[in-house]
Amino acid sequence: MFENASWIVHPNNKLYEPVCFVKQFKLREHVKRAVLNITSLGCYYPVLNGVRVGDFILAPGFTSRKRVQYQEYDVTQMLKAENKLEVTVGDGWYNGKINFVVANNIPKTLISQLDIVYIDGTKETLITDECWLARKDKLRFAELYDGEIYDSNYEDKPVNAVILDHDKKIITKQQGVYVKEQERIKPLSVLKAPNGDTIVDFGQNLTGYFEFTVNAKKGDKVEFTVCEELDKNGNFYNENYRDAKAHFEYVCHDGINTYKPILSFWGFRYMRVDSFPGGITKENISAIVVHSDIKRTGYLSSSSKLLNKLFSNIIWGQKGNFLDVPTDCPQRDERQGWTGDATVFCKAASYNYDVEVFFEKWLTDLKLDQGKKGNIPNIIPQTVCWDWSITDETGAVWGDSATIIPYQMYMTYGNKKILKNQYKTMARYLSYISSHTKERYLWYGCNQFGDWLGLDAPSGSYRGSSNEDFIASVFYYNSVKIVAEVSGILGKDRSKYDILKEKILEKIRKTFKNYKTQTECALALYFDITEDKKSVAKQLNDMIKANGSKLKTGFVGTPFLLHALSQNGYTETAYELLLQEEFPSWLYSVKQGATTIWEHWDGKNERGEFWSKNMNSFNHYAYGSVADWVYEEACGIKPQKPGFEEAIIAPKPTDKLDHLSAILYTRQGKILSKWYHEGEKIRYEIETPVRSTIVIDDKKYYVEKGKYVF
Ligand code: BGC
Repeated sequence: MFENASWIVHPNNKLYEPVCFVKQFKLREHVKRAVLNITSLGCYYPVLNGVRVGDFILAPGFTSRKRVQYQEYDVTQMLKAENKLEVTVGDGWYNGKINFVVANNIPKTLISQLDIVYIDGTKETLITDECWLARKDKLRFAELYDGEIYDSNYEDKPVNAVILDHDKKIITKQQGVYVKEQERIKPLSVLKAPNGDTIVDFGQNLTGYFEFTVNAKKGDKVEFTVCEELDKNGNFYNENYRDAKAHFEYVCHDGINTYKPILSFWGFRYMRVDSFPGGITKENISAIVVHSDIKRTGYLSSSSKLLNKLFSNIIWGQKGNFLDVPTDCPQRDERQGWTGDATVFCKAASYNYDVEVFFEKWLTDLKLDQGKKGNIPNIIPQTVCWDWSITDETGAVWGDSATIIPYQMYMTYGNKKILKNQYKTMARYLSYISSHTKERYLWYGCNQFGDWLGLDAPSGSYRGSSNEDFIASVFYYNSVKIVAEVSGILGKDRSKYDILKEKILEKIRKTFKNYKTQTECALALYFDITEDKKSVAKQLNDMIKANGSKLKTGFVGTPFLLHALSQNGYTETAYELLLQEEFPSWLYSVKQGATTIWEHWDGKNERGEFWSKNMNSFNHYAYGSVADWVYEEACGIKPQKPGFEEAIIAPKPTDKLDHLSAILYTRQGKILSKWYHEGEKIRYEIETPVRSTIVIDDKKYYVEKGKYVF
């Protein structure tokens, strides 16, 4: 593909100024089939004869700089006798502020090949070359953090495109899932803030953009700035976006103007209307939700309204942050593939949605961007200015994305391919730790994030007070265990990892005899570190009770906390944490009006004041990992064999809820686990597509596929 096509650029490229490449052509004959193969360095928006080609938003997506995916669109039906192909290219993820530091002005670069087969069997190929024209676009400015400026009256004189000598070997076939428009949301209300601002409230923190229609005069302006939360007085607040301007400007032509952005996205619930001819109403604007086209597979439902809202917030957290790569957040000046966030959320993510292909693509980028020494950069894909692959930086949990995520995908979907693809990367990652730790058989040193955002953090720190060496060593142990397992699955010699695993465990046990924090106890239990589970579980339970049935854990402890409790006899305490409504808790944010998952337990206090403007996202999915506890423990659905070829269904009901249910569409079919109180009794309804072990009140039932009531 693209053998004869050239990368083309505008001769006078400016940073953040999109370029439109144009090609006009005639057809000789009727067309049997025509396929447009296309990609760019930057993001592109293709239009053929005035109609958008395909539906991949922000194509060609966000990948390692070592590759760029190309897309194929069947355009047979879109062609006419005379044609005009116009492709607007903006900086996208390839260049600019998304790199944290403004990069060199790398030109917006396009390559395409239109393959036409005529009815008579003859063929024609149209490639990008210097005969293409290039002009500055009506879209005058596009940058992912800052937004867009579109002038519908702007006209530029086209010039000939220039060929750029750039490696074509980086072009690869589309591997990921397309990012698409998913749904439209009408405003809940248009309000007047106390300070006089007009604010549109969409009622949901979402990721995407908006579409408006306005009857205007030439030169009139539409201007919006977005935010996630209003301040305690009900005024617009977006200081937490930091340097992301999250702004939009549009210059109208005479008459009806309808527009939606094409090369940016925003994370927002509210929109301040800075200018809108004739005043905005609910009727002339809607929000468009955009995310990777992943299929929903998991559904949770309970008798508690607040809990159901939490389930919904978790889903919205995933929708908002699965935009070609798993991002930390969609709004402020980050929106990066932070590896630790994805590591802790990947299990819940794989139950909520089918994310196998999504992660297969991202893990390929992880493989490509792995450091020379085997370290895993904390952000994948790497950006041009923040290149961790050449430094030594890797932290536990963040780096363990290399092992935990592929293994989880294997457990959820049962496909060995992902393990095969990632095996070398996993092994190199372990060698990195083994050769960089300051203490053999433990993991000391490197760039640790600790129990990120744990509430027991010393003042002024983002890191909870759990021992970072302990955390790192536990995850080192866990990764070695995974690689031993994967070696076995792939028919490779696992003995060296089995030996290493035992040595690490022995040394962790010798070195870390006592646990001081909730997170340390949770990890010691969940990862089978302690030999005295009974007392550690009691210690954990006591700590939680002494803290008023409230947690103190951060990114690392939280995903394992409820599992550690319910697997060791303290299911009721796990439910108390899940259903806790006071700060800090999941339902506290729900009661504060959250519609997504917050980055911090204390993102907003009871008085409506914000934690800080520094790092305070209201759409960060990490704590949404609690969904995996609801699927696996509260409703009890777990894969007994990878890909749910056999399942174990061991629900753990509580009196604190009237009913709870989970539906999981696995590769084998639908699994349902539902329990509810019926008088004095608890009724269980279970449906399984495979041979399963059902456990009710510690009694095991071995069943074939079917529907069961207990
Ligand atoms: C991100 C996090 C990330 C962390 C690690 C933050 O700025 O938003 O989610 O994991 O940095 O340091």
